[in-house]
Parts: sequence; structure tokens; C-alpha cells
Amino acid sequence: MEIKICQLTDPNSPYLPQIIKWQYKTWGKKDGLRYDCVESNIRHSIMKDRIPLTYIALVDGELAGYHQIDLHDMEARPDIYPWLINLFVVKKFRKQGVASALLKHVPNVLKKLKINHLYLYTSVNGMYEKFGWEFVEMIEPKMKHQDKFVRLYKFTAKNTLK
Ligand SMILES: CC(C)(COP(=O)(O)OP(=O)(O)OC[C@H]1O[C@@H](n2cnc3c(N)ncnc32)[C@H](O)[C@@H]1OP(=O)(O)O)[C@@H](O)C(=O)NCCC(=O)NCCS
Repeated sequence: MEIKICQLTDPNSPYLPQIIKWQYKTWGKKDGLRYDCVESNIRHSIMKDRIPLTYIALVDGELAGYHQIDLHDMEARPDIYPWLINLFVVKKFRKQGVASALLKHVPNVLKKLKINHLYLYTSVNGMYEKFGWEFVEMIEPKMKHQDKFVRLYKFTAKNTLK
């Protein structure tokens, strides 16, 4: 099984419609966003050399997942940025190291962007630590669908990988 991480920059990429569907189903709908809003957001998140960026994981050439780098991910905390957002692996390919490959690629992204840190928030506990992310604090997104505290993490370029 070969897992390849590629940056998505082609507006005509055949992978874009699938990513838009996954994004809407997993997060957009719950956030109360219209499908065409999610579509526009993803289609405008494929910059080449600046944020927002989108990376996909291909397993033996098949689209398995993605994640993105964006300036904002939490309305309640505009003071911290940039963010790793929307890490997603489709069910068929879960537990096979796809998220692991996407997360191991993060230091390359920092190097490319010439930045030395990223933030993310999640309710997943115990995964990001394995890839050099440091737990910062519990944080309240204060969003309609998300009234619980979530975990805030920071990745700094010097951190070593598992
Ligand atoms: C969470 C998710 C990205 C994991 O993807 P995956 O490809 O199955 O993960 P991997 O197989 O690469 O696992 C990497 C490591 O993280 C661990 N891990 C994976 N999912 C985990 C979870 N939900 N909680 C804790 N640890 C987890 C694995 O055990 C593995 O550790 P190991 O190498 O020591 O065994 C995937 O389940 C998903 O897309 N879920 C829905 C969207 C989501 O919740 N995204 C995260 C939002 S912040």
C-alpha cells in the first residue's frame, strides 16, 4: 500500500468534488453552512504558495483524505493563527496510517510557508501528541453546534516526529 501526500492546486482537479462532499457532510452541514458556501470555500482554498492550502492523501492512487492550512478556524480566538484544519480520512481507509502520513508531512508545510508554528483544535484525545503537537489548554469554541470544550494544540517546527 503506497500513501502519497500531494498539494492540491489545480482548480480542475477531479478530487475537488469529493473533498467538497466530505467537507459538507462532516462539518459544513453541522455548522449550518449552505452546500454552495462549502464548495466555494474549498475551491478557494487551493493556493500554491500562500494560505489557504489543501493537501490530499492518495492510497495507491485513490483519494483517501485531506487536510488544510488556514488563517482562521475559531471565531472566538482570532488572536492565534495559522491553523491546521479539516483533517479527514474516509472510513474505508481509516486505521491504516493515512492521517499519520498527512500529519508527518506538516513540517514540510511549515518549511514551505516559512512559518514556525500551527494551531489546531479537536475533540480527539491522544493522537496529535504522537506527531509532535503539544497540548496547550482546553478551549471553548462558543459555536452553536459545539458547546463543549475542545483541546487546543500547537505544533512548533523544532518538534520531532514519532
Ligand atoms: C481521526 C482520523 C483523521 C484518523 O485517521 P486515520 O487515518 O484512521 O488515522 P491513522 O491510522 O493514521 O492513525 C494515526 C495514529 O493516531 C491514532 N488515532 C487515530 N484515530 C484516533 C482517535 N480518534 N483517537 C485517538 N487516537 C487516534 C491511531 O491509533 C494511530 O496511532 P498508532 O500509530 O500509535 O497506532 C479519522 O478517523 C477521521 O477522519 N475521522 C473523522 C474526522 C475527524 O474526526 N477528524 C479529526 C478532526 S480534528
